[in-house]
Amino acid sequence: MQSVFLIPPETVEFRPENYFVPLDLDVVFPGRSNAPLEVDLGSGDGGFLVEMANRYPNRNFLGVERLLGRVRKTCRRMARTEARNGRVIRVESHYLVRHLLPRGSVSVLHVMCPDPWPKRHHQFKRLIQTEFLDDAREALAPGGELRLTTDDLPYFKHMCAVFKAHCGFAEEPWTPEPDYPQTDFERLFRSQGLPIYRALLRRI
Ligand SMILES: C[S@@+](CC[C@H](N)C(=O)[O-])C[C@H]1O[C@@H](n2cnc3c(N)ncnc32)[C@H](O)[C@@H]1O
Repeated sequence: MQSVFLIPPETVEFRPENYFVPLDLDVVFPGRSNAPLEVDLGSGDGGFLVEMANRYPNRNFLGVERLLGRVRKTCRRMARTEARNGRVIRVESHYLVRHLLPRGSVSVLHVMCPDPWPKRHHQFKRLIQTEFLDDAREALAPGGELRLTTDDLPYFKHMCAVFKAHCGFAEEPWTPEPDYPQTDFERLFRSQGLPIYRALLRRI
């Protein structure tokens, strides 16, 4: 099937001129940098990002993904829709949170089905660690949220232990509405009958 792009797909990707200073949100989202910012870390093929951007035109959405093919797929998916409030950046998630997100700029940080790194000698690669929570707290606006999902129970238990030991967030119950957008991986896991574990942390 031939693709119909409403804008050139490459314009969806944001490439900073300088990776050593925080992003200028007026450059990332020209003319609309005052809108609340939601960031999807490890945005994959972008299904969630594109659906959220279309559903909430008064918010800005930034996808963060390290794989080029997935960034390009996200750009194509976004460019087929009317959304002009969604962009994707190719960079490592924790680097972005620590060095590129302006302090206090983010209303919601989404971490949806991150790589679980199940082998013990790989677990240091997991995104959710104390240092990540420290940096996420700095990037979030007061009262901002960190929303996490995973299908992997050992990783979820690890996340919960890290949250419990961190005093910068309060955990809140989170039962999303039935039509809350699913990510591509979540849809796949659900189709296999796997449960999805979720947590919502609010910056205090
Ligand atoms: C399991 S997939 C989940 C994708 C998407 N969130 C979803 O639920 O459909 C994890 C994604 O995170 C990306 N990723 C993993 N570690 C990353 C990192 N440190 N920085 C940026 N992207 C990362 C992977 O390339 C992959 O696309």
